[in-house]
Amino acid sequence: MKTILLINGPNLNLIGSREPEIYGSTELDDLIEAARSTVKDTSAGKVELTPFQSNHEGEIVDRIQAAKAEYQEDFIVINAGALTHTSIAIRDALLSVAIPFIEVHLSNIFAREEFRRVSYLSDIAKGIICGFGPQSYQLALSQAVNELLDV
Ligand code: DQA
Repeated sequence: MKTILLINGPNLNLIGSREPEIYGSTELDDLIEAARSTVKDTSAGKVELTPFQSNHEGEIVDRIQAAKAEYQEDFIVINAGALTHTSIAIRDALLSVAIPFIEVHLSNIFAREEFRRVSYLSDIAKGIICGFGPQSYQLALSQAVNELLDV
């Protein structure tokens, strides 16, 4: 069984109620359940999803390190929230473990404020999906399954 680690960063625990005009009305638990089904269905049960959410940069770094050292996870899908635009530490953690990853965002970060157009993760990601709300996660996860199963 292969495993995809789904990381959600700061404030993503609040989606559903947080700025719904930007992030939509789906709560994180529901988004994760839909994501789990996508992974199960698109992989015919060969891949499973492990979700992780934290509001703390260091905890996200620790979890990325553990993805290699402890859990041997095969792929990462990450929405680092605002840390996308600031965190060299998360970038370095992803480089350290060398686990392939897709960067995902609910909103189109290139169509918003100037500071959101900078991502410390994009150039080292396999790809980026943004702007499709919860559907961004479905697209990212089904592609992650494709990558893992060499489709
Ligand atoms: C976000 C975009 C970020 O700029 C923002 O700070 C978030 C959410 C998104 O999913 O659209 O917290 O990553």
